[in-house]
Amino acid sequence: MDLSALEAAAREVMEPSAYDYYAGGAETETTLRENVTAWERWRLRPHVLRNVADVTTATSLLGSPVTTPVGVAPAAYQQLAHPEGEAATARGCAAAGALMTVSTLATVSLEDVAAAAPDAPRWFQLYVFTDRGYAGELVERAVTAGYRAIILTVDTPMLGRRWRDERNGFALRDGMRMANVPLDASTGGDIGRGSGLAALFAEHDRGLTFDDVGWLRARAGAVPIVLKGVLRGDDARRGVDAGAAGIWVSNHGGRQLDRAVPTATALGEVADAVGDDAEIVVDGGVRRGVDVLTALALGARGVFVARPALWGLATGGAAGVREVLTGLTDDLAHAAALAGVPDVREVPRDLVTPA
Ligand SMILES: Cc1cc2nc3c(=O)[nH]c(=O)nc-3n(C[C@H](O)[C@H](O)[C@H](O)COP(=O)(O)O)c2cc1C
Repeated sequence: MDLSALEAAAREVMEPSAYDYYAGGAETETTLRENVTAWERWRLRPHVLRNVADVTTATSLLGSPVTTPVGVAPAAYQQLAHPEGEAATARGCAAAGALMTVSTLATVSLEDVAAAAPDAPRWFQLYVFTDRGYAGELVERAVTAGYRAIILTVDTPMLGRRWRDERNGFALRDGMRMANVPLDASTGGDIGRGSGLAALFAEHDRGLTFDDVGWLRARAGAVPIVLKGVLRGDDARRGVDAGAAGIWVSNHGGRQLDRAVPTATALGEVADAVGDDAEIVVDGGVRRGVDVLTALALGARGVFVARPALWGLATGGAAGVREVLTGLTDDLAHAAALAGVPDVREVPRDLVTPA
């Protein structure tokens, strides 16, 4: 599937500042670009004569069965793409048998997203504000609403500097709100200085450490914790030792620290450090089935996309999200067959080599 054509179509139907908010990254956007090209620096070493008559893409993510290892990463403000926002994304994911991660900064409440696709597996992404009581409440709401993991984003002690948004004076449209956070509508939309996202992240807890994983575990009970935004093996190991059941290799789609390493470069080191002690998932610049196959070979169990799903949402609502996910999954199955891999849960590490 050609996701660049889909992005071009989404750009046609979106407001320019909303498109830039989705498409853009931090500062010079070096990491944003390299996330895509770093996957292209791996080559596949295909097996032959392996009976690929039936390639299966089914797997499980932290115990939840899914039809595909491709899932949707958390992305804020989905009503910028479609009036139904995160509820449409939830239905698209459910139709594709894919896992959805819902952002703290969703424009539909986490309960309403759950109600849109009640039987599908979902994870909740958490930002922890200095008001810990509020973060604790969000976790309890997510657990009650049936979310199956809490994804603690750890690469955002403060917001990255997004030059496009600064230039555009990006703001949420009237009537759109962050449905999970206690900001009133009058300040809830302006990403410019002094209000909205900037104000929200001024309240973000910059003092978080690995010790806080224990606090979160206590709040989440039996629901597992995943640390999202890890790019180093040593940090991954500390996270697992602190109680995380999963490590999400990510640089926030190049939106936080510009010049952070691309995830295709970081993934192998993290997988080596963690071994079988936790599940590893990855996102960032994944645009093709061969990217997904490469990520699975490098040690990921799940592979997530944000922008491709947003382009699908903007152009086709729930059906658009479903088409992106089934398209990537079909491409994965096709690549796996050509590479002699009948089961995506068993992609050998030596299937890939640096170009
Ligand atoms: C528009 C947009 C909003 C995002 N919002 C969040 C968010 O609220 N929380 C979070 O943890 N990550 C957020 N991310 C980062 C994504 O979860 C993910 O790490 C990254 O975008 C994946 O790369 P890709 O967009 O190249 O697929 C956002 C990304 C985009 C593009």
